[in-house]
Amino acid sequence: MSTEISTQPLVNFDNVALRYGNGAESILALEGLNLSIQSGEFVAVVGMSGCGKSSLLKLMSGLVRPTTGSVTIHGQEVTKPLGIVGMAFQNPSLMPWRRALENVILPLEIKSEQRWLHSGNAREHKEKARELLSKVGLSGFEDKYPKELSGGMKQRVSLCRALIHQPELLLLDEPFGALDAFTREELWGVLQRLHKETGCTVVLITHDLTESVYLADTVHVMSPRPGHLVYGAEVPFERPRDLDDRFKVSFTQIVADLRHHISKGPEAEAV
Ligand SMILES: Nc1ncnc2c1ncn2[C@@H]1O[C@H](COP(=O)(O)OP(=O)(O)OP(=O)(O)O)[C@@H](O)[C@H]1O
Ligand SMILES: [Mg+2]
Repeated sequence: MSTEISTQPLVNFDNVALRYGNGAESILALEGLNLSIQSGEFVAVVGMSGCGKSSLLKLMSGLVRPTTGSVTIHGQEVTKPLGIVGMAFQNPSLMPWRRALENVILPLEIKSEQRWLHSGNAREHKEKARELLSKVGLSGFEDKYPKELSGGMKQRVSLCRALIHQPELLLLDEPFGALDAFTREELWGVLQRLHKETGCTVVLITHDLTESVYLADTVHVMSPRPGHLVYGAEVPFERPRDLDDRFKVSFTQIVADLRHHISKGPEAEAV
């Protein structure tokens, strides 16, 4: 956990419910959800498929509003997408006609159009993107198109794109779910380093309990729908963490503990 913890949490969910649609067809995705995230914290959220994890991220990013209760960032109600948030998903969804570097700077171009940044900063943007790409081990691949990159490389580009505007809050929805085990482990290292270097707050949604314990300061377990938090585990291991940490008894105990708290319905996908 961050050494500097302010009294006000960066993100706060107060008794949040979220219902999609109206009437008999409507779905109560979340109910009675309380969550507090401190600045700099690395939080993971795990739970069965369909329990509302992505909905939780959508609320934080301002893409949807709670039906009841409140979601605040820096004490302010979230009513629209905020510039301090960066997001990456399981599917990197890069623009196929843009090279790697051009994909990374896309959010800055959009902001420039909004006159948030002066459009004359193109060279600066490119320099920043180059630097980020080098941090994730993609130096030399700046001019490749997505089709010329492996799945892991595309996900690295997607991470850089999420980080290019130096977000205070990075939201990751199963970013490594589609990758093979070795690439995933490599990207754990990349993410761990980026978290340390940027000091940003991270919320990671994952089905992989080992991944959650390896990366996070706190792992929250969500109940089946309507989702709310039913358990939280603090992860005490020092950083930087090592892949061998996974085989420590204390590590496997936390994983077993989390598994125990995830209800195992017929559709349970958490492993
Ligand atoms: N836009 C939407 N309209 C209607 N229902 C939705 C919508 N988005 C999500 N839901 C429903 O809300 C519930 C929670 O969905 P959500 O995507 O948040 O779950 P999840 O935990 O992320 O699942 P998974 O692990 O499979 O990604 C599900 O029952 C889903 O069908
Ligand atoms: Mg989801």
